[in-house]
Amino acid sequence: MIEKLDWDTRHFGVPMGRFNWSETGQPHTESVAAATQQAKQLGLKQLMARAHPSEMEKIHALEAGGFRLVDTLVTLTIDLRKNPPPSAKDSSVRTARAQDLPGLTALAKTAFADRSIWLDRFHADPKIPEGKADALYEEWVRNSVAPASAAASMADQTFVSEIDGKIAGFLTCVRGSETVYGKVSLNAVDSSFRKRGIYRAMIDHALAWFLREKSPLVSVRTSIFSHAVQRAWIRIGAVPSDVEHTFHWWTD
Ligand SMILES: CC(C)(COP(=O)(O)OP(=O)(O)OC[C@H]1O[C@@H](n2cnc3c(N)ncnc32)[C@H](O)[C@@H]1OP(=O)(O)O)[C@@H](O)C(=O)NCCC(=O)NCCS
Repeated sequence: MIEKLDWDTRHFGVPMGRFNWSETGQPHTESVAAATQQAKQLGLKQLMARAHPSEMEKIHALEAGGFRLVDTLVTLTIDLRKNPPPSAKDSSVRTARAQDLPGLTALAKTAFADRSIWLDRFHADPKIPEGKADALYEEWVRNSVAPASAAASMADQTFVSEIDGKIAGFLTCVRGSETVYGKVSLNAVDSSFRKRGIYRAMIDHALAWFLREKSPLVSVRTSIFSHAVQRAWIRIGAVPSDVEHTFHWWTD
């Protein structure tokens, strides 16, 4: 029922875990109470849990157990066999290199700061220091482009848009297969380069890559109010396929 989150624990310096619903027929309120008790026994200070907006009993059980809503995510999916992508023409987009890391980490650190367009579960949680939430994205992009080990790798391919020698945006891809969804995982455009089609250009290059990799099923998960992400993906034929609320619980 409780899964320890080692990466999160190391990054935030707080023992963290995830509560996974067990479908045993146990009342949800009892499952949640058992989970928080187990978390305390394991020395975990924070738990995260997810529920679909239609799962009212689960949501109310989480609320009764002290969990608080921290974000709502929407997943969009596309099958490139049915929706062939347009050709990737923008010449500013190329594969990321290790030398791009200073530009990539600088962009990752600041790109997610505008709360009117993006708010993830860590930035939304007042108990997480702001700097640690920003640093998560730096770490993520570093582990996508130049991981210390294969086990630390978080992407199979990263695209950047470079304009006048500056990294204007990046987008990371995780390969899937003919039957398993590949993912566009981490993506952002520098605030000074937004609203001029750079994100869309990187998506076009990513979709061509997924096709080359024989990974025609592609998904992206984003904040429910991230209109730019949703508009870009819906325009190329992606459809919403899932929505999840995320909740956090703390020992104190
Ligand atoms: C999301 C983000 C990458 C979009 O980058 P961008 O280069 O500005 O996007 P584009 O110019 O390619 O525009 C894509 C679509 O979004 C729309 N759009 C762009 N910014 C928008 C905004 N602030 N509000 C609403 N729509 C917006 C564009 O009009 C376009 O839609 P259209 O084709 O219907 O006109 C960028 O806003 C960003 O980095 N945001 C912060 C980090 C983030 O949210 N990352 C995504 C995590 S999943």
